[in-house]
Amino acid sequence: MNKGTIVITGGAGGLGASCARTLKDHKLVITDYSKDAVDRTVAELKAAGIDAVGHACDITDPKAVHGLKEFARAQGNLKGLVHTAGVSGTVGDPKKVFDINLKATALVVEEFHALAGEGSAFVLFSSMMGHSVPPDPRYDGALRDPLKDGAYEAVEPFVQGSADTMYNFTKRGVMLLCKDNAMRYGKMGARIVTVSPGVIMTAMAKKALEEHPAVMKQTLDMTPIGRYGQPEDVANVVKFLLSDQAGFITGTDVAVDGGVLSQILK
Ligand SMILES: NC(=O)c1ccc[n+]([C@@H]2O[C@H](COP(=O)([O-])OP(=O)(O)OC[C@H]3O[C@@H](n4cnc5c(N)ncnc54)[C@H](O)[C@@H]3O)[C@@H](O)[C@H]2O)c1
Repeated sequence: MNKGTIVITGGAGGLGASCARTLKDHKLVITDYSKDAVDRTVAELKAAGIDAVGHACDITDPKAVHGLKEFARAQGNLKGLVHTAGVSGTVGDPKKVFDINLKATALVVEEFHALAGEGSAFVLFSSMMGHSVPPDPRYDGALRDPLKDGAYEAVEPFVQGSADTMYNFTKRGVMLLCKDNAMRYGKMGARIVTVSPGVIMTAMAKKALEEHPAVMKQTLDMTPIGRYGQPEDVANVVKFLLSDQAGFITGTDVAVDGGVLSQILK
């Protein structure tokens, strides 16, 4: 049964591929940075009987994101988008983290607004770490408008060269983009939401576990559910948020964190 087309960015990654398997009743557009990884993921999904097509794209490239939108338009009947593409602070370069996690998200939100239609839904990936950055007018303007000249330079002084801290700022920015676009998307009959995963055992989290074992242990100790998350924990929530059952949810964040934020933000 085809319930409409869903575009998944970062579709070859841990959470993206899990979302793809969970959204098996839809036609899927799998997009990611590497064509090989896209082709491999599409082949796996097709072998599992899922209707998937691939389109490699660097989401930091405005022309490529425009091309992705046109590719999605050509599939017809867009039900939604799951934007998981992102990098953690382990890339070590705050500018790269800003460009991929926040500027590219703003590009995706701008481009796909043209395809937002009645009953469609757009899920952006933030992180529980985005909640660790407090509201502050000194940087929130730049986080809300990351495509504006000077946006990176306005945020950079607050992260003091740390790509990990920049990661947290970009994820606050993703939540702000969602709130700021809720009315625009709502006027098209569409919803836009963020999900904030906690520690989910994908390649990204395994790398963090190797690099920061003490911090990860501390996080696990603060997790009421008492375990790390699995990709399916997030994918099932994404599936719900895309469905018409979530028709009154927009402009907000849903934490899928095993309860960690309840222990930090008291
Ligand atoms: N895994 C976790 O514990 C966790 C926790 C909180 C938030 N998140 C967020 O969830 C999302 C998915 O994380 P994941 O664990 O699946 O990571 P992952 O590294 O497995 O997947 C991310 C995907 O994004 C793609 N990507 C990176 N840069 C790109 C670019 N310029 N153009 C196109 N694609 C690009 C990568 O190729 C990769 O396939 C990320 O936004 C991440 O910040 C993950």
